[in-house]
Amino acid sequence: MNPTKRRTVIAGNWKMNFTPAEAEAFIAEVTPLVAGKDNCDVVFCAPYVTIAAAMKAAEGTNIKIGAENVHFAPKGAYTGEVSAEMLKAIGVEYVIVGHSERRQYFAETDETVNLRTKAALEAGMKVILCLGEVKEERLSGITDEVVAMQTKLDLAGISAEQLKNVIIAYEPVWAIGTGLTATPDQAEETCGVIRSVLAKLYGEDVAETVTIQYGGSMNDANAAELLSKPNVDGGLIGGASLVAKKFAAIVDAAQ
Ligand code: PGA
Repeated sequence: MNPTKRRTVIAGNWKMNFTPAEAEAFIAEVTPLVAGKDNCDVVFCAPYVTIAAAMKAAEGTNIKIGAENVHFAPKGAYTGEVSAEMLKAIGVEYVIVGHSERRQYFAETDETVNLRTKAALEAGMKVILCLGEVKEERLSGITDEVVAMQTKLDLAGISAEQLKNVIIAYEPVWAIGTGLTATPDQAEETCGVIRSVLAKLYGEDVAETVTIQYGGSMNDANAAELLSKPNVDGGLIGGASLVAKKFAAIVDAAQ
């Protein structure tokens, strides 16, 4: 983390977990554990049908609620999809875009990730843009090239002004939901590569202000070490975001 230059963000990604009632109970449990922990922003991204209940439960707390995806079209014949305007209308502030599970199971590409990012930014939301290499790419030694390409394609046409509302989540796909974690040095190195690409695209000063999270089996046991790295500005947390004590311990590690 580098709190003098950029905001630390600890975000939970609930994925396909928590009914509205379960989310309410979870928020009630986690609220006192994260209250007053102001050195980071605390966000939970929820399934669409759970967002409203989670937002209500989080009213008056330091917890913000986001969505896990957004469609790129403003409206129309896209059965099953939700637009940026719809999310905005219910007060959603954050949205995850480009998660590897979306890319892997739902055929999202850098092109659609870019369109979704633009749609969310144009609606005035903050985007948590996910990217990262798969195992074969890391083993072949092309991680830097892969994340550089994703960064460029996913941010194509996005201005420096719009970038202020973009958080990048570096998530090595081999570490997501597997219990495997990038070592702090691997996380630092690749987050640093992403920042150097941002510097080429937007200039050094802008790049220094962008929050770059690490995601991939971050938990209460490894968060402090990962967050101690200067280019790791927070976490996007799946499994451990479903357990209030574990998530709160990660928020503590960011203080
Ligand atoms: P995980 O998920 O913490 O369960 O590995 C992270 C993510 O998918 O964002």
